[in-house]
Amino acid sequence: MTTPRKLYIKSYGCQMNVYDSHRMADTLAPEGFVETATPDDADLIVLNTCHIRELATEKVYSELGRMRVIKDRAARDGRNVTIAVAGCVAQAEGKEITRRAKHVDVVVGPQSYHRLPALIEQAVHGKAIDTEFPVDDKFNHLEPPSRAATRKRGATAFVTVQEGCDKFCTFCVVPYTRGAEVSRPIERIVAEVERLADAGVREVTLLGQNVNAYHGDDAAGRPGSLARLFHRLAEVPGIARLRYVTSHPLDMADDLIAAHRDLPALMPYLHLPAQSGSDRILAAMNRRHSRADYLKIIERLRQARADMAFASDFIVGFPGETEDDLRDTISLVSEVGFASAYSFRYSARPGTPAADMEQVPDEVKHERLLRLQAEIERQQAVFLGKWLGHTVDVLFERPGQRPGQLVGRSPQLQPVHAIAPSSMIGEIHPVRIDEIGSNSLFGSLARAPSQPVEPALATLGAA
Ligand code: SAH
Ligand code: SF4
Ligand code: F3S
Repeated sequence: MTTPRKLYIKSYGCQMNVYDSHRMADTLAPEGFVETATPDDADLIVLNTCHIRELATEKVYSELGRMRVIKDRAARDGRNVTIAVAGCVAQAEGKEITRRAKHVDVVVGPQSYHRLPALIEQAVHGKAIDTEFPVDDKFNHLEPPSRAATRKRGATAFVTVQEGCDKFCTFCVVPYTRGAEVSRPIERIVAEVERLADAGVREVTLLGQNVNAYHGDDAAGRPGSLARLFHRLAEVPGIARLRYVTSHPLDMADDLIAAHRDLPALMPYLHLPAQSGSDRILAAMNRRHSRADYLKIIERLRQARADMAFASDFIVGFPGETEDDLRDTISLVSEVGFASAYSFRYSARPGTPAADMEQVPDEVKHERLLRLQAEIERQQAVFLGKWLGHTVDVLFERPGQRPGQLVGRSPQLQPVHAIAPSSMIGEIHPVRIDEIGSNSLFGSLARAPSQPVEPALATLGAA
């Protein structure tokens, strides 16, 4: 019988890290680790890190500074605290982390999380570092969540179905930190989703660095596709909503576009990073698609399902970017009419090809970011404004800020606030939108069942 030990785990970066953090907690649970919400009383601290931009990496080192204070204080009380760094900084920097931060005991890369219990034991005798890319799939060894853990995490869940990337965009570290692209077999994912549904999950978001490149084997060992996986998952009892993130334009296959037409459970929302609206910059980024290709995909998806909403990622100040290139990016944003978009200043990452190209000065990047963001915000407001007076189905997720209020998501992923009983958490109910916020919608429970998409929404998203 092991005595319970406390685990504090903190995720940075993308949703794949959130998923991995859950699976690390699930894998440590049989070892006697119970999660705690603060690092102050933890016996084991895991920082699940992100390396995507310089700022993300630096954040880890400043957080490690705070953790040293906690570790030293515990040591004075005769208590040992183990500090582990997981995630993409662990993979990219390896031993360098224990050199810069001597109080770190374990460094574990994203493909080795199943080895975490062994590494923690090993750390008793000295630093434990594992940044291998083992041939064996870690998902076959990580513990599934208990029913209680799933219930606590709520009605929505992430499931990683694909990991790694072979695309090598010239700005990006992901192919180096997550390794080559691999897909999990279809039946294993179906089993995981059945388990989640059985514990009350209603919405599943499939994750992958290039999730639409998914090609996991079916039961007969034949390579599948994301669309085929969705057809299987739509049949799982209890699963009402399916989503996926993040996609690459090159992998937007015909059957996936058709799935948006054919599967009501596949939500009318797509996060499709464009990165730039300029063909010259897209080529320099090695994105391998043009502005016209991107717009064509958007058009085809809108034909498949009229109420599709789109989100994207953009980078400004990529090496060689001119004023004309930026104008092309801004005009792409207005042409598509995104529901939302993330925009970033280009950050030179060690070891990536773009880091050696001629850089755009910081103040230029900053000024361009503000201009792009102004257009993104304008499009976002236009998109949100269109919902006024419409009724949307909301999956309520948690209590809102005001008393008696719940917050959930619309099919297009907008946060929706409404006065509703807490018994509706985990359920889908129609809400009539009567107020538009800056990032979310406010409404009241509609008595009548929701209507199918109204004609006025057929052009939703277009500016
Ligand atoms: N796999 C996804 C996203 C990966 S990272 C894709 O292919 O699109 C998430 C976002 O971070 C990217 O879409 C990109 O916009 C941004 N990003 C990646 N590397 C960056 C860098 N070096 N500097 C600034 N932003 C970057
Ligand atoms: Fe990075 Fe490009 Fe791969 Fe996305 S597709 S993870 S941006 S290399
Ligand atoms: Fe960051 Fe790694 Fe995700 S670099 S964005 S945590 S894949």
